[in-house]
Formats: sequence, structure tokens, C-alpha cells
Amino acid sequence: MEEEARIREILDYYRAQRDRGDQSVIAELLRELQEVQGYLTPELKKEAAEAAGASEKLIHILVQRYPSLKESPFAHEILACTGERCGNREGARLLQEIRKELEIGKDGLSGDGQVMLRTRSCLKRCRTAVNMDIDGVPYTGLTPETGLELVRSICKKNK
Ligand code: FES
Repeated sequence: MEEEARIREILDYYRAQRDRGDQSVIAELLRELQEVQGYLTPELKKEAAEAAGASEKLIHILVQRYPSLKESPFAHEILACTGERCGNREGARLLQEIRKELEIGKDGLSGDGQVMLRTRSCLKRCRTAVNMDIDGVPYTGLTPETGLELVRSICKKNK
């Protein structure tokens, strides 16, 4: 939860900067975000692009250009909601199914090391529960079945 608050704080700060679109400023934003978890996840890169008003392509270029910026060691990141509204609509069951399907360990990493599963107490769009983000893309109105199908199609498509 503390990580989440720190990320929000960084994003809000940079969102309010007049020169937020400058490449050196974006690189600084990415560096600060990276400090929170030790690397840049797909979700963080997407949020950085939004806060900087820049394209995701530019974020990708900057990450390649600066050797100090590190991408996450996994290919996909799932952010599942554990809030009450999502929970009431079988969000808990969906989460359980995902853990089982991907063989998620205690550290949140899947058995094959390709997917990181994180949870958040509310994704702030309760009206469209059940909600989940995959690689920074929001998905809404999920059921355990459609959610699991989505995870399979995105996170296991190379298998
Ligand atoms: S409870 Fe899931 S988005 Fe709020």
C-alpha cells in the first residue's frame, strides 16, 4: 500500500510540471518510479506515459536509451482488485482461479516467471466491477470465466 501511495505521489508531481513532456524530465520521472520497485513494470510505463502526456513508444525509446533504467524481469503484470465491490461479484474467485492457473507463488510471480500478480484494495472504478488491469490496460465487468480467459489469452499466448 505504501508503494502505491509513493507511485501516486510521483505521478501527481510530474503530471503538474509544465515541462513534463521534456525527455530529460520524463527520464527523471522513470528513474523515480523505478526506485519504488527496483524496475519499471508494464503498468508503471503506461502510467508514466499518461502522466508525461507522452506516447508509450517514447517511453520505450527512453528506457532503451538510458542504461540506468531497467525493465521488469517478467513479461506481464496483472493488477487485481481485492475491494468489496469486486469481491461481492466473484472477484475473489477470479483471483483464486488466476493464482491457480498461473501457479502464482508467495512473491506474486507465476511458476514460469513471466507474470507478476499484484493486488490493490480498490481500482477506483467500482461501478464496473469486477475490475482488473493487465499490463496497464483496464478490463471491466469480468466474471471468473471471462477474466480467466483474458489472462490465458494475454499471458499464455506464447505457449
Ligand atoms: S472494489 Fe474493485 S474497483 Fe473498487
